Amino acid sequence: MPDRSVTVRVPATSANLGPGFDSLGVALDWTGLITIRISDDRQPSPDGPMEHMAASAALALLEQAGERPAGIVATYEGDMPVGRGLGMSAAARAGGLVAANALLGDRLTMEELLALAIRLEGHGDNIIPALFGGVQVVMEDEGVPVHVKIVPPDDLRLALLVPEFSMPTEESRRLLPTSLTRNQAVHNIGRAAMVVAAITQGRYDVLRTAVEDILHQPARGTLFPAMFPIFEAARMAGAYGVYLSGGGSTIAAFVSPTNGEHVAGAMRERAAAHGVDSVTRVVAMSNTGTEVVSR
Ligand code: HSE
Repeated sequence: MPDRSVTVRVPATSANLGPGFDSLGVALDWTGLITIRISDDRQPSPDGPMEHMAASAALALLEQAGERPAGIVATYEGDMPVGRGLGMSAAARAGGLVAANALLGDRLTMEELLALAIRLEGHGDNIIPALFGGVQVVMEDEGVPVHVKIVPPDDLRLALLVPEFSMPTEESRRLLPTSLTRNQAVHNIGRAAMVVAAITQGRYDVLRTAVEDILHQPARGTLFPAMFPIFEAARMAGAYGVYLSGGGSTIAAFVSPTNGEHVAGAMRERAAAHGVDSVTRVVAMSNTGTEVVSR
């Protein structure tokens, strides 16, 4: 294949939104750039985790399409945190797939890309907003991903507290309960539906209770003892609701456009009081998923 490259912009994502385990996710206005370059010459392999995952995803797609470039190199530019529950593997894979598809002349539809993305990623609540943007409600129908997008409201932000430590998703998923009682299931079903209703209808007053979860956060809290105290600090500072982003360690608080820095500061202070160093960032939700910026 001739020497060519494509650059795409990819968003970080926040999954679960509290009770919507593996079912809700949102694209964030926190993006990075991934470039995939293919050539006839063998090139040095990419080294960082983003580059490695983006190149593997791109290669998987090119091979599926019957192309086998001798050289494939991914480069990543950005400051999205890796291993902190902000969907970095999804961003890398979405970036690699969309860029590779652009190199193929957009041979596949986005839904066809998604099928491969889910095979690589396992669950859809990061990769679907990473590809398509917005708040996404996701499910699987006999192995086929089904997703509905909600345009994010413009009067809601997320204050993110990103701890210095990472929480490996696979390890923390092993801690989760394998069964729930009916009452526990009803607790999460009602709240996950309520999160969607609250975001759609601007009923941010119900988010405080709606984001509560008993399916994954209590178990994950055992790996992150400061988590619930930080939740409390966010609520006391006026957050609408606060949850563990994806598998952690980032904590995300729904806030008004004017209260984000105050909530972020309160969370950072409480984290520090528990010996957890962190950085904070207030972001809007984004309606845009992965997009090609140059080809
Ligand atoms: N829904 C997933 C989890 C997101 O909670 O494990 C993590 O990437």
